Amino acid sequence: MKNSQTKNTYKGGAEVFRGYVRLSSNENNYGPAKSVESLIKKNIKFSNIYPELDGESLRNQIAKTYKISSKQIILGAGSDEVLQMIYAAFSKPKEEVVFTRYAFAMYSIYAKNFGCKAKMFDDRDFQFDLKDLVKIISPKTRIIFLANPNNPTGSIFYRKDLINFLNKVKKSTLIVIDSAYCEYITDKNYDDGMNLVKKFPNLIVTRSFSKIFALGGLRIGWGYSNKKIIDRLYSFKKPFNVSRLSCIAAEESLKNKTWIKKSISNNFLNKDFAIKSLINPSFKVIDTEANFILLKFKNSKISEKFVNFLYKNKVTVRSLTSYGLPNYVRMTIGTKADMKRASLISNKFNV
Ligand SMILES: Cc1ncc(COP(=O)(O)O)c(C=O)c1O
Repeated sequence: MKNSQTKNTYKGGAEVFRGYVRLSSNENNYGPAKSVESLIKKNIKFSNIYPELDGESLRNQIAKTYKISSKQIILGAGSDEVLQMIYAAFSKPKEEVVFTRYAFAMYSIYAKNFGCKAKMFDDRDFQFDLKDLVKIISPKTRIIFLANPNNPTGSIFYRKDLINFLNKVKKSTLIVIDSAYCEYITDKNYDDGMNLVKKFPNLIVTRSFSKIFALGGLRIGWGYSNKKIIDRLYSFKKPFNVSRLSCIAAEESLKNKTWIKKSISNNFLNKDFAIKSLINPSFKVIDTEANFILLKFKNSKISEKFVNFLYKNKVTVRSLTSYGLPNYVRMTIGTKADMKRASLISNKFNV
C-alpha cells in the first residue's frame, strides 16, 4: 500500500482488485449490468472513432430519464471533472469556498489548485444543520459544495431543510449539491436537488455513474443547472472529454431500470447483513444511507492495524486518516459474499 502522492493530491483507496474483496472505493461490486457489458463489447471495434463532441446521445438519455432539458446537462470524466469545471468557470483566486470539514477530498484539493480560500464548516457527530451553515456564509462566499449524502461521513439532509437553506443563500453564491450517492436513498423526504434547479438559479447538481451504476473505471458523470451556468461550464470543457465507450455504457445503464432497482435492494440487504454480522469489541459500526458503513476504533493505531490485518487477508477497506478521521475506517457495501468474507475476517481481528 505505497503512497507516492504529494500533499495536495487525492489519496485513493487500494488499487488491487483481482483476488481481493474490494470494499475501499464505494464501487458497486456486482459490476455493470450484462446488457452494458455486451454493448461495450459490441462497440470496442469503433474505438478509432472520436466520441460525440458533447456526448449528445447520452445527454438525451439523461434528459429523457430525469425529464430535464439536454441543454442543461454537461458531461465530465467522472463528476470529479464537473467539479473541476465549476471551479475553473466560477472561482477566482482568493475567493471563498465553503464545505464541511469531512467532505469529499476533491473540494479542498481544487480549492488549493485554484487559489481559493476554503472555509470549513464543522459538523457534530457526522451530522450538521444547514441552519448553522448559513451562519458562516459571508458576502465573499463564491461557491458552497455539499455532498448529500456526504462521503465519507454519510451525513444527510432532507428536502425541507435544503429548500430553507437555498432560500437563505444570496443568488450571487453558487451552491453545488453533489448527489453522487443519491440513487441509494429511498426516503421520501430526501431530495437530490434536480427539481430545485428550476427555482434556484444559483444551484448546480452533480451526478456520478461511478457508484450505483458501476462504471467507476470508465469515468463518467454529469452536471445539471440552468442554461446560463451550463453554457459557461462548456467554455471550460475539453472537446471529447468523455469516451465513446463510457457514454454507451452510461446510456444503457440508465435504461436498465430493473437492474438499478436490484442494485438498490442489494445495497439495503447486504448493508443490513453486514451491520448484523460485524461483531467485535474493537470497533463500533456506524450505519449510513449510502453504500458504505463506518467503523469507529478507540484510536488510530488500532484502526491502522485493522486496515492492515484486512489487507493481509485480502480485504481492502478505506482508512479515513487522509480525511482527518484517523480513528475511522470506511467499508463499502459489496456483494453478499463480500460482506460474509469481510465480517468473518473483521470479527477475527484482535488487538
Ligand atoms: C461525494 C463524492 N462526490 C464525487 C465523487 C467523484 O466521483 P466520480 O468522479 O467517480 O463521479 C465521489 C467519489 O468517491 C464522491 O464520494
